[in-house]
Amino acid sequence: MQIDDLSEEELKNSLNMRKLPKHVAIIMDGNGRWADRRNLPRIEGHKAGVESVREVVELCGELKIQVLTLYAFSTENWKRPPFEVNALMRLLIDQLSEQTPDLNSKNVKINVIGDISRLPKRVINEIRSSINVTKENTGLILNLALSYGGRQEIIKATRAIADDVKKGILNPDDIDEKVFAKYLYTSDLPDPDIIIRTSGELRISNFLLWQCAYSEIYITEVLWPDFRKKDFLLALISYQNRKRRFGGI
Ligand code: IPE
Ligand code: IPE
Ligand code: MG
Repeated sequence: MQIDDLSEEELKNSLNMRKLPKHVAIIMDGNGRWADRRNLPRIEGHKAGVESVREVVELCGELKIQVLTLYAFSTENWKRPPFEVNALMRLLIDQLSEQTPDLNSKNVKINVIGDISRLPKRVINEIRSSINVTKENTGLILNLALSYGGRQEIIKATRAIADDVKKGILNPDDIDEKVFAKYLYTSDLPDPDIIIRTSGELRISNFLLWQCAYSEIYITEVLWPDFRKKDFLLALISYQNRKRRFGGI
């Protein structure tokens, strides 16, 4: 019997609840191909991906995972045709306003990382409102990477560090990994224990470049709109069967 043949319940029962990742990060890829295969416009793939987000968020809540980061829009995705970018922004506005009450009732705290100043004003307003409504929640941190790029994040941190050095707040000799990490968007979050990428691409695409130093990588051929709780559980089981050495023996 193959592990893929197990039911969702069986997979869940085979998890070691004491060895769950604190932080799961997902590169939600393959929406366009999902739509292509059905002769649908690409945006239908993005819309279909909403259900996958819902399932993954729900399971993270059930398993009491602390942080879920979802890569929803990269700094490079601005290069896409305006029609697709606009449709994605619209989807973002609609989903944030539609899902926030339910997420709030599930004690989910919404957080955003990325250069949000590039986003349309209406998206920024919706993000602010979702963050504000859920700010006291103590359950899952749902961290959305929007207009996010790892290189942009590192440059922003470097500028802020240079500024503090210039102001005399920071001594260059005191800059170490811990101090540097405090200047990143993720300053309050643990590094991702596992990064999942759907649709089979074997690359990191500018995602959490600093933070992924020792993350376990899990790639599945499943396209994001087809990704279900079962697929997420398979990733967690793979994670639990790995030996993390962090350079040790
Ligand atoms: C991921 O799906 C969603 C975003 C990057 C916004 P894609 O749109 O990249 O889908 P593919 O990779 O073209 O299939
Ligand atoms: C990465 O997917 C970004 C997101 C999932 C938001 P892309 O589809 O943009 O990445 P590449 O172009 O295949 O590397
Ligand atoms: Mg893609």
